[in-house]
Amino acid sequence: MDQLTESMITIFLNDQPFQAVAGASESLLDFLRHRALATEVKCGCGRGDCGTCAVLFDGRMVKSCLVLAAQANGKRVYTIRGLGRDALMANLQDSFIQHGAIQCGFCTPGMLMAAYNLLRIKPTPTRSEIRQGIAGNLCRCTGYQKIIDAIAAVAGKTAFVSEAADSLDSPNPTATDQEKAKAGYLLLGGG
Ligand code: FES
Ligand code: FES
Repeated sequence: MDQLTESMITIFLNDQPFQAVAGASESLLDFLRHRALATEVKCGCGRGDCGTCAVLFDGRMVKSCLVLAAQANGKRVYTIRGLGRDALMANLQDSFIQHGAIQCGFCTPGMLMAAYNLLRIKPTPTRSEIRQGIAGNLCRCTGYQKIIDAIAAVAGKTAFVSEAADSLDSPNPTATDQEKAKAGYLLLGGG
């Protein structure tokens, strides 16, 4: 390993420790897609414009193309896959389908993350607040109206009770997480 340009980092990806080498300038997006094979995180623009790469990190939604992988060392990262059993996310997914808010689907993982993040912080947003909440996410297909309808239909209806949700308020892994890593649960990624 080139000590000047690469380092070994561990992230807690969807509550599982994952360790792999990361380049000094490698984005969290590239680390997730190419090292952790978390291809549910999409790469649209790679420069912070489109929102397809959204993940929950350090207790908030971020565009993973704008975060260095090294910044995530020792931190929790949730992708949409990690929220698969979360009631709020499940309701959002159903509502997107029911309202025709998915066409090509490329923006959908990021859009759902933005909607989830919004409702986590503000469970009963106005339509204007929903618009603001997804303002960093681009969709070239739907015209946004159906997406806003889908989010509005879920707003205020779902108790926010999942473990992942609780973990978002404590972005650093717990002692149990650290013990799992030490006990050999590391999922080693490719170099
Ligand atoms: S790929 Fe990150 S904002 Fe577009
Ligand atoms: S559904 Fe195609 S980009 Fe949004």
